[in-house]
Amino acid sequence: MTRFLLGRHSNLVKLSSLLFLTLLLVYTFLQSPGPTKQFSSHKDSYAEPHTSSQTTPHVEDWGYDQILLLGDSLTEFGSLDATGWALNLSRRYSRKMTVSARGFSGYNSYWLNLATPRLLNEFPTNRTKLVVLMIGTNDSVLKGRSPQHVSIDRYQHYLNEISKNIRQITRNARILMVTPPPISSPVVFDYYTFESMKQYRVACLNAFERIYEIEGDRVAVLDMWELFGGNQTYLDPNYDPKSLDTYFSDGLHFKGKGHELMYKGVLSVIETKWPELNADNMSVRLASNFLNAPAEELGDDEAASRWMFGGK
Ligand SMILES: *[C@@H]1O[C@H](CO)[C@@H](O)[C@H](O)[C@H]1NC(C)=O
Ligand SMILES: *[C@@H]1O[C@H](CO)[C@@H](O)[C@H](O)[C@H]1NC(C)=O
Ligand SMILES: *[C@@H]1O[C@H](CO)[C@@H](O)[C@H](O)[C@H]1NC(C)=O
Ligand SMILES: *[C@@H]1O[C@H](CO)[C@@H](O)[C@H](O)[C@H]1NC(C)=O
Ligand SMILES: *[C@@H]1O[C@H](CO)[C@@H](O)[C@H](O)[C@H]1NC(C)=O
Repeated sequence: MTRFLLGRHSNLVKLSSLLFLTLLLVYTFLQSPGPTKQFSSHKDSYAEPHTSSQTTPHVEDWGYDQILLLGDSLTEFGSLDATGWALNLSRRYSRKMTVSARGFSGYNSYWLNLATPRLLNEFPTNRTKLVVLMIGTNDSVLKGRSPQHVSIDRYQHYLNEISKNIRQITRNARILMVTPPPISSPVVFDYYTFESMKQYRVACLNAFERIYEIEGDRVAVLDMWELFGGNQTYLDPNYDPKSLDTYFSDGLHFKGKGHELMYKGVLSVIETKWPELNADNMSVRLASNFLNAPAEELGDDEAASRWMFGGK
């Protein structure tokens, strides 16, 4: 070995080989269980977190599961507006589940599909129990008017891809597909029309039917047109979209009453289809009865942890 190193190699090779050996020695030295290690596990040592399986009490699975809200500005504003539906949802699940709003203003199903694997991998994938997916408003903008347009066929394709990604990456998350909502005017911002929005609603419902054949009860749909308009009234050619003004601030984005109906719509699907995800059915994370907790002055960390996390 030494011979090899000191052979007819350039100075540079010699130098780097020696450097490598030195690093290897230092590394080996640091890895060997020395007296420092033994000292740190001594009872009187300065508070080190318990790491061995003997000192950590067995704990129940106390972690927070997640509800992920995927969409466009209707989701983004849902977490920004003071009365936003996403904000209200995270209030409802306080200390029970994490509600993460991932809404991207202006996005269509094409861009959202590309982002979905990364968004799903942001969090331990088996922690995501429900994905609420509301996308399609921007897909419907008139062709040629904006890079946001996605044809109906491709829109359905991307809904299918997004649900496939959710199934493959999370394995057990439920999916609540939400149709793009109506707008409260025949035309909004020059390039959203009530009639084309209606077609994207139908496209979303059809995509849901096909996804349902594969996923079964792991997927459900919330029809925003029924929620806002009701009883298929919006199918009547004389229907006046202005009657929906009470739900929208600018014809397209929810205001208080729209947020509230959306919030209630999501909850009612959860409660009827997936009662195990009903917040009323969950206990709060970490013990809440602090009046029964071991006091600090007792110095019994293990008892305090047992009280907090459960376990033996
Ligand atoms: C769609 O994109 C426009 C920008 O062109 C944006 O103003 C609007 O908020 C977006 N709508 C949704 C529902 O994301
Ligand atoms: C989630 O996955 C991790 C590994 O990725 C595993 O250790 C853990 O037990 C899983 N939890 C549940 C609740 O399936
Ligand atoms: C739909 O029709 C039923 C029965 O006529 C009525 O009770 C209900 O209020 C209607 N829903 C809406 C949203 O108009
Ligand atoms: C927020 O949630 C509360 C409690 O569920 C509900 O009473 C209220 O109507 C909700 N507000 C909105 C704007 O959704
Ligand atoms: C709680 O969940 C169980 C099963 O997951 C279900 O049978 C029960 O109806 C739920 N309770 C409520 C209040 O939703």
